[in-house]
Amino acid sequence: MVHCRVAFLALITLALSAFGGCAGAPEAAIQAKVGSHDDSIVCFVIRTYWAHGDTWGDKSLRRILGSLRNQTLGRWEALLVVMDNRPFPELRRIVRELNDSRIWVQAEWINFKYNPKESGSWSPGYHNKLYNLTDTAIRACPAKSYWVVATNGDNSYDSKFVETVFAAPRGVDVVAVNFYSRYQRPTALPCERFEEGEGVPHCKENEMRFCQTDLAASAYRLERLLAENRLFGELDPGGSHGANDGIMAQTILTAGWKVHYVRDRCLVNHSPSPQQCALAGGVWDDSIMYQATGFGGACVHAKTVLERMRVHPNAYELLELNVTFDRQSFGYDQYPFLELKCLRLADQSQWFRFETYGRVCAARVDRKDIPDDIPPHPWDDWVPSSEDTEQQGDVAEEGEEGEEQWQPAAASNEDSPVWRPPKFHEAPQLQHPRVFRAKMRKGESRKHVDAMDRQKRKAHTQTKEYQGGKSEEGKNRSTHMRQLINSFLARKRAHAAVRCRSS
Ligand SMILES: *[C@@H]1O[C@H](CO)[C@@H](O)[C@H](O)[C@H]1NC(C)=O
Ligand SMILES: *[C@@H]1O[C@H](CO)[C@@H](O)[C@H](O)[C@H]1NC(C)=O
Ligand SMILES: *[C@@H]1O[C@H](CO)[C@@H](O)[C@H](O)[C@H]1NC(C)=O
Ligand SMILES: *[C@@H]1O[C@H](CO)[C@@H](O)[C@H](O)[C@H]1NC(C)=O
Ligand SMILES: *[C@@H]1O[C@H](CO)[C@@H](O)[C@H](O)[C@H]1NC(C)=O
Repeated sequence: MVHCRVAFLALITLALSAFGGCAGAPEAAIQAKVGSHDDSIVCFVIRTYWAHGDTWGDKSLRRILGSLRNQTLGRWEALLVVMDNRPFPELRRIVRELNDSRIWVQAEWINFKYNPKESGSWSPGYHNKLYNLTDTAIRACPAKSYWVVATNGDNSYDSKFVETVFAAPRGVDVVAVNFYSRYQRPTALPCERFEEGEGVPHCKENEMRFCQTDLAASAYRLERLLAENRLFGELDPGGSHGANDGIMAQTILTAGWKVHYVRDRCLVNHSPSPQQCALAGGVWDDSIMYQATGFGGACVHAKTVLERMRVHPNAYELLELNVTFDRQSFGYDQYPFLELKCLRLADQSQWFRFETYGRVCAARVDRKDIPDDIPPHPWDDWVPSSEDTEQQGDVAEEGEEGEEQWQPAAASNEDSPVWRPPKFHEAPQLQHPRVFRAKMRKGESRKHVDAMDRQKRKAHTQTKEYQGGKSEEGKNRSTHMRQLINSFLARKRAHAAVRCRSS
């Protein structure tokens, strides 16, 4: 579904006019035909930014690249694109250290205009700008790319992902894989929506439709994407939550693209996910999953949760439950179960699960529980029209059972429904928790980590203030910023040295 570097549906200027004109098929499209199926590759377009780095971020870029390098089939390339208002100076070091010819930087766009967030919410147009850059990057995939997957730098892939994509039957245009996501069963009860149980899916099912798919979990056949000049950036004009992936899915299904659904396996982790949160020892905050700033929930430090529960003792419930997971992927077979601590609002009238997500987001297993009288929702136009028609574009597989099938409503209609922004509900006055980043490196004391956090926040604030400033004052701040970074790095090095000596 929707993703975002963070938000709903993963999801983020460029002069696309260069491609829009369609004067002559793009070069890569022509060359793609030449590449034989056997040396062809999956082209990963990875959208990343400073917060995926080592020093200021969560090290997730190394994780995703590691997950690609660990593929059982090495036929892939990764093209990195950056679009942000803050530079990502570590990017070059990470790429150089990996010393892997398959990994390269395609674009690094830094400008105050690419500020992803304004006071906690997505900047208007940010997702579409990022999608426009994604469209350009897709067109920069090597000629031998048969498949393309656009993803985010904090996601990760099971080692069988590339192999699975190439194992799809011939003639298929899209391979859709299930994925770990904070939008797992969003209309089910908060927290309990992640719980293991009879008949519930291991993770979110990729149904290739609005609110039920993920850019990162769908491999598109590049040749067809280019031949039909499909552009993610044009699908959701004015949209700010980046539902472009779901709209793309419904658009191409309507156009007759053939989809291969990989069922019962979870081969993609879209961060943040409750499963990853459980493994990292965080607490899943589901009390914010209906708010624009916390859409889908977040993984937070236990400390912040305890503090909030202390201040508002009656506002919350803390649950502990075993989360669903696919034991055949990500090496999870080593865990008999995954226990997650999960926070939700005690007042059920504040859950807003149907009001926020509507019918369209209900997981297959939850559709029977949707009350008839839920209020109209802006996404209702995307609800499939029928439950008993054959799933569009599905490529029948041997042994596949006749499941409940959904057909997009748009199928009967040439025009896609017009996108309208979702309704979000304001929470009671709650503090937005700091996003948990797995910084608890071995050997680092809590105190040190806190000090590091403070330092980073201070540095971040400085950078933000500096944005766009070419004035004398701006330059002074930039100098100050450099000093701040240097002193931080020096302290880090000193700390590391102490640790080495003492161990
Ligand atoms: C990088 O990889 C190439 C090819 O595998 C190898 O020849 C070279 O020594 C490596 N360089 C470094 C710095 O590891
Ligand atoms: C994205 O590109 C399209 C052209 O393909 C353009 O119309 C649109 O304004 C661009 N969006 C943003 C946010 O720059
Ligand atoms: C998780 O499952 C294990 C094994 O069935 C069980 O012992 C444990 O109590 C469960 N944890 C929770 C929180 O339900
Ligand atoms: C690498 O792949 C193997 C299986 O091919 C898996 O067991 C292991 O967990 C993977 N390691 C990482 C770091 O992804
Ligand atoms: C910038 O720094 C210089 C030297 O430290 C100082 O003389 C000048 O007044 C500062 N300018 C501003 C606008 O703060």
